[in-house]
Amino acid sequence: MVFGNDYEGHFLAVENEVRLLMMALSNSSWRLLQPSFFLIGIPGLEESQHCIALPLCVLYLLALVGNVTILFTIWTDPSLYQPMYLFLAMLCGIDLVLASSTAPRTLAVLLVHAHEIGYMVCLMQMFFIHAFSSMESGVLVAMALDRYIAICHPLHHSTILHPGIIGRIGVAVLVWGLLLLLPFPILLQRLVFCRATVIGHAYCEHMAVVKLACSETTVN
Ligand SMILES: *[C@@H]1O[C@H](CO)[C@@H](O)[C@H](O)[C@H]1NC(C)=O
Repeated sequence: MVFGNDYEGHFLAVENEVRLLMMALSNSSWRLLQPSFFLIGIPGLEESQHCIALPLCVLYLLALVGNVTILFTIWTDPSLYQPMYLFLAMLCGIDLVLASSTAPRTLAVLLVHAHEIGYMVCLMQMFFIHAFSSMESGVLVAMALDRYIAICHPLHHSTILHPGIIGRIGVAVLVWGLLLLLPFPILLQRLVFCRATVIGHAYCEHMAVVKLACSETTVN
């Protein structure tokens, strides 16, 4: 009995010390807090990663060729300088960034086992993925607006959606995506990581990173 109590007391003391250390860590500028992360790839399919990489690579190349072709076609044909095609071009540009911020990294993980990713690279990848996804939804809303005006106010379509407005919508969508996502990496900077930083994905994604933190993540 005495031993039992003793152990318990000892355990509590150690636990308390660890908690104090964690608090000290999260307040100090000393950053154990910036670990590199380990990307698993596709959990449960470690053996067949090479087979998965091949179709992924083909899809990525197809997406590149398809999107660049659309961009090139719209660029070279002035008769396509209309709201619908300009928005489509924005969508293709965003798609190119999105695909290129995920696929190459994923391929590297699957093919050459480049599992380790630096802290800053991880945050940047996360920022790009989420920021450009929200830009994409912004452009889709703009496309819907274009169709709405074309159907409900056909005679005013070209005066309402003139090139100046299209440009402004494009800039607004860009700024919206960047501003919306800016808090994410900034808030992540505060977190302390003390466990193994293994991410069960092939790329860095916001919630996957947040879940690895030992400190308080309510704000995130
Ligand atoms: C453009 O890229 C996206 C991936 O980001 C892809 O889903 C889409 O099919 C591509 N478009 C074309 C026309 O290939």
